[in-house]
Parts: sequence; structure tokens; C-alpha cells
Amino acid sequence: MVFLKTDEEVELLRKSNDLLGMTYGELAKVIAPGVTTAQLDKIAHDFICDHGGVPACLGYEGYPATLCTSVNEQVVHGIPSKDVVLKEGDIISVDSCINLNGYISDSAYTFPVGEVSADVLKLLKTTKECLYLGIEQAVTGKRLGDLGYAIQSHAEQAGYSVCREYVGHGIGREMHEDPEVCNYGRRGNGIILKSGMTLAIEPMILMGRRNVLIEDDGWTARTCDRKPAAHYELSVCVRNGKADILSTFDYIQQVLGDRFI
Ligand code: MF3
Ligand code: CO
Repeated sequence: MVFLKTDEEVELLRKSNDLLGMTYGELAKVIAPGVTTAQLDKIAHDFICDHGGVPACLGYEGYPATLCTSVNEQVVHGIPSKDVVLKEGDIISVDSCINLNGYISDSAYTFPVGEVSADVLKLLKTTKECLYLGIEQAVTGKRLGDLGYAIQSHAEQAGYSVCREYVGHGIGREMHEDPEVCNYGRRGNGIILKSGMTLAIEPMILMGRRNVLIEDDGWTARTCDRKPAAHYELSVCVRNGKADILSTFDYIQQVLGDRFI
């Protein structure tokens, strides 16, 4: 069942996403070689709680942290740990959700740690482009297959593959609502998008082959070939002509300045 949101609900989602964006701005200040993913998790947890939010991943289906922190070949749902120390040239995908006043935000961002190789930088840029190409399709009258096609074709033109085991989703009072938003698809297929649908669009793009496996911790998904993966996510509201983007990378951009890709 797909719930269309009222304008009031969309504004509540925007506020929740704004706090998540600010949280990522705080992380952008500290992500550097030598920092552990457990330190990032604590910073995010305390910042969210200090601003009246509830970390929505913490305890979700037993997930043990505020953030998902997936490094290099990890695709999604990496668990923060004091044993994971970031080093120069790594990439870290941060994904989290906040419950603010009953409305759930969802966004993800892959950060370079220091200088990364040209190959990896291209993966990050292409994945972000995939996200915005998907968002361009999130308008009234288009179909979900149009959105998936836009993402998949851009990724594959660059020689990358699309993760199929994890998908975007509707979002609102629940973290995961209908519909599923696949990052692959065929034009003209799938449900028709309507104004007021709120979607978390989140391409997970892999430099190598598309196969992934789950580590023994039961959560961390990583590429089988151990080649790197990138993940960018924004929550949006479908509208006539142009999607309304509810999440924001602006706080990250303010912190990173010239280093923002
Ligand atoms: N933010 C993720 C998503 O996009 C969900 C994280 S899974 C959790 O769906 F279990 F950690 F919450
Ligand atoms: Co999501």
C-alpha cells in the first residue's frame, strides 16, 4: 500500500531530513585517516539526540548502531566498530535514518577519506550522477521502471554494476514503505508515480561484478570480488514536473568546500 503524503507531512519529512543532513555535516568535519567508525557513530548518536531526534536504525530489526558505516568493498549495513580505523584512500558510505516527530528521514553519502585514487573518485561521481538521474524521473506520470532504467543505464555505461539485493523504498511514518524502488529496470514498466509519493532513492553501484554476500555479523553486505562500492541516497517527494528533494547534502558541502565532489 502506497501512502500519499499531505503537504504538512512532506514538511515534517523535510525537517527530519534536515537534521540528518546536519548530522552528516558533523561527520564530514571529522572523517579522516585515523578515525574509527565507532567514533563516528557516537558523534551522530549524540548530535541526533541533542536535537530532539531518535536514531531510527538503532534497534531496527535488531540493528546495533545509529549509523551504517560501509568501508571500501562493503556495500551497505556495515556495523560501526572501534576496530575499523579509516585510512588514507578509503571510502566510507554512511547511511542512517532519524525519527523526528514521528517522521523518518533517510539519506546516505559516500565520503572519500583523504585522497582517493582516480578510479574510485570516478565511481563516487558516477554513483552520485545515478542518484540525480533517478530523481529526475521521480515526477508525476513516470513509472518506477523509468527511474530504475535511468540509474542502471548510467552505471553500466561506465562499466559498473548495480546491486540488486538492496533497493530504495517508500518512506514516511515507517522507514520502509511501499513501493520498492529498484536501481534497475525497464522503461515503461512498474507503477505510475503520483504527486505526494515520498521515496528514498538509493543507488548502490559496484565497480566490479554485481554479486554481494553477507558477512558473519549477519548485517554487512560486501562485494564478492572485493572491489569497491558506492552509495548515495536522498528522500524525495514526487511532484508534477520536478521532484522535491527532502534530504540535503548542503551541510556536507559547506564543510568540505573544494573537496566536495
Ligand atoms: N537507511 C537504510 C535504508 O536505506 C536502512 C538501514 S537498515 C538498519 O533502508 F537496519 F540499519 F536500519
Ligand atoms: Co533507504
